[in-house]
Amino acid sequence: MRTKIAGVGKFVPETVVTNFDLEKLMDTTDQWIRERTGIEERHWVKKGEETSSTMGAKAARIAIEQAGISPKDIDFIIFATLSPDYFFPGSGVILQRELGITDTEIPALDIRNQCSGFVYGLEVADQFIKTGKYKNILLVGAEYHSGGLDISTRGRGVSVLFGDGAGAVVLQPTEEEGKGILTTHIHSDGTNAEILSAKNPGMHGGYHDDDDSIYGYDDKDFSFVLLTEKMMDEGLIHPYMDGQAVFKTAVRKFPEVIIKALKTTGYTTEDVNLVIPHQANLRISQFVQKILKLRDDQMFNNIQKYGNTTAASIPIALADALGQGKIKSGDLVMLAAFGSGFTWGSALIRW
Ligand code: UT7
Repeated sequence: MRTKIAGVGKFVPETVVTNFDLEKLMDTTDQWIRERTGIEERHWVKKGEETSSTMGAKAARIAIEQAGISPKDIDFIIFATLSPDYFFPGSGVILQRELGITDTEIPALDIRNQCSGFVYGLEVADQFIKTGKYKNILLVGAEYHSGGLDISTRGRGVSVLFGDGAGAVVLQPTEEEGKGILTTHIHSDGTNAEILSAKNPGMHGGYHDDDDSIYGYDDKDFSFVLLTEKMMDEGLIHPYMDGQAVFKTAVRKFPEVIIKALKTTGYTTEDVNLVIPHQANLRISQFVQKILKLRDDQMFNNIQKYGNTTAASIPIALADALGQGKIKSGDLVMLAAFGSGFTWGSALIRW
């Protein structure tokens, strides 16, 4: 028995923010953003309009309907996000409430693997389906990035990249010969965990730093470390990224983990109908395409319209690829992700 993707849904907030709109907020240009990232526009949430959980629920409803089941049939929720509604509880239970299925008392698992969250979730779901424990797993990736970005010139290296949105899939067992998830591979290496991070607000208390004076903590032993005025004043509450270091590692790890999935299953790049990489940067995808010698029609990119939506990017891309008729029954589809942690992974699926 294998796991199949029985339904796919996506939701993005209504408001489109173009590169030209960003020119009005910070010192950047449409040309810079396009040339370095391929991004033309992204969707951003208007304050109070949506959260990761509400967007996740909207994407989930579409996936659930496509799977031909009702929300009450879901027996396990897996929610991947780096932008949860609350520090705690996790967004999985909020999503459950949004879907109106709290009375089913099903488990809701939150996973925190950033851009690889969806692939991590897929591997987790696949194990539970294969053991027969669950039959209708809802896996959601959703992000409300824009509310946490520094949209001034100070934050331009990061804020122009990210968009909001959600994607969801329903996973079910299948006995259809040869179909379903063939293999998954997930990895992590925390050596450079802070290279792409949002450390504050956080409970690290400066432990991982040689000099914690940058955070502005008071000198009492038992202190409030979650958030300080200095963090607010100096913008330490926003995501930090060493873009070039991330880029260099990404273009190594994407091909590596894709090849791993191919070797495990005995396929070659020629056999793959469509590679759907996490949409981090069009240039990263182009590098990966070149390294693996993939044709244009084997590579799916939609970062131009959404920016980087982290855990939501693969399911949003999957929904778009299906909507555009780029995936047919029997196709071999490769999902691959790389991101903060570092974490990375791949999944090879016979559709
Ligand atoms: O989801 C997975 C995680 N993320 C990624 O995979 C992202 C990986 N990294 C990247 O995609 C690229 O490194 C970026 C797109 C983030 C940056 O591109 P880059 O070619 O590495 O640029 P850079 O950071 O080296 O910056 C080049 C210049 C700098 O100016 P100086 O120092 O050369 O004068 C930046 O200050 O571009 C400047 N810059 C900008 N200029 C206009 C940085 N951001 C902007 C901006 N608009 N938004």
